[in-house]
Amino acid sequence: MIVVNFKTYSESTGEKADSLAEKCSKARKESGENVIIAPQSPDLLRAKDKEIEVFGQHLDPVNPGSHTGHSLAKALKAAGASGTLINHSERRLKPEKIRKTIEKANEAGLTSIVCAQSPEECEKFSEFDPDYVAFEPPELIGGDVSVSEAKPELIEEAVERSKVDLLTGAGVKTSQDVEKSMELGCKGVLVASGVVKSEDSYSAVMELCEGL
Ligand code: G3P
Repeated sequence: MIVVNFKTYSESTGEKADSLAEKCSKARKESGENVIIAPQSPDLLRAKDKEIEVFGQHLDPVNPGSHTGHSLAKALKAAGASGTLINHSERRLKPEKIRKTIEKANEAGLTSIVCAQSPEECEKFSEFDPDYVAFEPPELIGGDVSVSEAKPELIEEAVERSKVDLLTGAGVKTSQDVEKSMELGCKGVLVASGVVKSEDSYSAVMELCEGL
């Protein structure tokens, strides 16, 4: 599985989210691999008819009601999301909130990917029973050196300690990065800049799919 996190880059916002979603969808069809996109909440509906699975970038553990500025599971679902990232390094939550957010995702039938910054966190958050834990060393996010190149031993440790399937991410750009992650026991990768900031996002996704 390749999860493309659109983050809040200008290259993946508004109308550009439309065309990026189309390119990812085309790569999904051509490769036959499970490519998932995670656009910003206001752009979720843009991906609706793109024949690609769509995830939210964040979810709040709130019930319908007076919670201005929060992201409700029911709203994510209604906007076409089938899952969500939780506790991304750029949107960290306290452990108790992570647990409650996973519960909300489960209740709504949303697949949950909980991000973790270390093998210790992978173990701890996997005990809350998300669908996946994604190990991303924060210092490598957005950089040119991939997690599989720089920290293979930590990926291995994270795979061992996590009680649920593991994804990894940070600096992932090539099919070799993906291949190495899979060899170390991951079920897929989370990627952002390698696809969003590429001049040819379609080819960037196709390249990553080759490593699966
Ligand atoms: O969620 C994916 C992300 O944090 C990794 O970002 O730019 O290093 O691929 P990037």
